[in-house]
Amino acid sequence: MLSAKTIQIVKEITPAVAANAETVTRVFYQRMFTENPEVQAYFNQAHQHSGGQQKALAGAICAYFLHIDDLAALTPAVELIAQKHCSLGIQPEQYPIVGKHLLAAIKEVMGDGATDEVLAAVGEAYQLLADVCIGREQQIYAAQQAAVGGWNGYRSFVVDRKEQESDVVTSFYLKPADGKAIPDYQPGQYITVKIDHPTTPTSPRNYSLSDQPGQGYYRISVKKEGPLTADAPGGLISNYLHEQVELGDTLQIGPPCGEFTLATDSPSTRPVVLLAGGIGVTPLLAMAKTLVATQPGRPLFLLQAARNSGTHAFAEEVQQLQTNGSKLQTRVIYDQPLEGDVEQQRCDATGVVSESLLREWTPFEDAEYYFCGPKAFMQTVYRSLQALDVGDDRIHFEFFGPRQDIESAAAVG
Ligand SMILES: Cc1cc2nc3c(=O)[nH]c(=O)nc-3n(C[C@H](O)[C@H](O)[C@H](O)COP(=O)(O)OP(=O)(O)OC[C@H]3O[C@@H](n4cnc5c(N)ncnc54)[C@H](O)[C@@H]3O)c2cc1C
Ligand code: HEM
Repeated sequence: MLSAKTIQIVKEITPAVAANAETVTRVFYQRMFTENPEVQAYFNQAHQHSGGQQKALAGAICAYFLHIDDLAALTPAVELIAQKHCSLGIQPEQYPIVGKHLLAAIKEVMGDGATDEVLAAVGEAYQLLADVCIGREQQIYAAQQAAVGGWNGYRSFVVDRKEQESDVVTSFYLKPADGKAIPDYQPGQYITVKIDHPTTPTSPRNYSLSDQPGQGYYRISVKKEGPLTADAPGGLISNYLHEQVELGDTLQIGPPCGEFTLATDSPSTRPVVLLAGGIGVTPLLAMAKTLVATQPGRPLFLLQAARNSGTHAFAEEVQQLQTNGSKLQTRVIYDQPLEGDVEQQRCDATGVVSESLLREWTPFEDAEYYFCGPKAFMQTVYRSLQALDVGDDRIHFEFFGPRQDIESAAAVG
């Protein structure tokens, strides 16, 4: 527990920290990577370059300070962080490194405002949050190890199948090299792929499991990431997987993690709506396939938004799900249809997801919503659901990267 004095000081400095949070986290990462370069290997440099990781950490610190006397409110945020940390193998002995540089960054940015008393209070508050994260991470590591077929760290998997799903997406079917069991996972979870890139050392990457559990393999489906701008590099690991990794090759895989999951043991019969933007379909396809197999009578809606038929992955796989006597309804929308896409009914409509589409097509008064896709797609879906009065308890989403601001303005049609 924090002392009353510490809580009071944290509350007093919260506005100043919030106003400078992104500067603090930028300075923090600079200091940490300079003074403790050994931890840099865990961090995705593209997330540093885009500022996404700095923003995610700043958001977490502000949320913590705001809820300093109501830590229960932070449980979902801690779960997301702990699952992410466990996917990367973060260890308790690394917390003092982060704590040291965070305090130094606050001191540097806040100047005279960061008195010894303030720094002592922030240090005490950091330690409490660190203890909560470490405790949850130790539980996750223990559960990973104890699961049937489970493991900690990395394990060798062999590429058993490589399937092209669209012009830009390829699936990899991965089987353990030791031929032993692998643990089941909850649909929506991801695994971690660690590749020693031949030219550019980089951090491990997360990939959602795109098939239903219990198949004896893990399937990931990877989009080949092009350069975002003319002078930027293409995606390092996605291109490597597409171009260099072949059948029979071995990959180092970390166990399933993640809290964006569909509770398959839940007795709920509520309709489920899955909204996928582009490659964001992967966790949602695992959910759809699992629900069709385990609760075929449950109303299920799957919307796939894609550029066009060239980038639209899993069209046949989704169609097959519909022929299994399930209550699955699907909708495909393209925002840049190719010639013939509309005429040949490869999509149901053109355009982008909108409030009116969700109002007309989904049972918004009752359904649980799960969505994943690019930031603009996520923001539009979120704001549309808010406009339809769907409460946050029925809204579940995941970013394919550090958590971003879902609430900022986005077009709602
Ligand atoms: C929970 C989770 C689940 C995920 N599931 C999937 C999935 O199922 N399928 C999938 O395909 N992906 C998934 N991802 C995303 C995946 O982890 C990778 O982020 C993605 O494959 C890109 O990695 P990369 O190494 O190819 O690209 P990176 O090298 O990390 O680059 C990413 C982008 O940043 C740009 N960039 C990098 N460096 C610079 C620079 N210096 N200047 C300018 N631009 C730069 C690149 O051009 C590229 O567009 C998931 C991510 C998370 C967090
Ligand atoms: C109490 C202390 C900590 C807090 C509050 C914290 C918070 C966060 C947050 C908010 C994220 C982003 C999660 C997401 O949206 O995906 C994150 C990711 C991460 N954290 Fe921590 N963290 C802490 C300690 C640590 C420590 C000790 C390490 C070890 C070096 C660490 C390494 C990482 C890494 C590698 C990532 C992923 C970064 C990426 O995507 O590039 N964190 N953390």
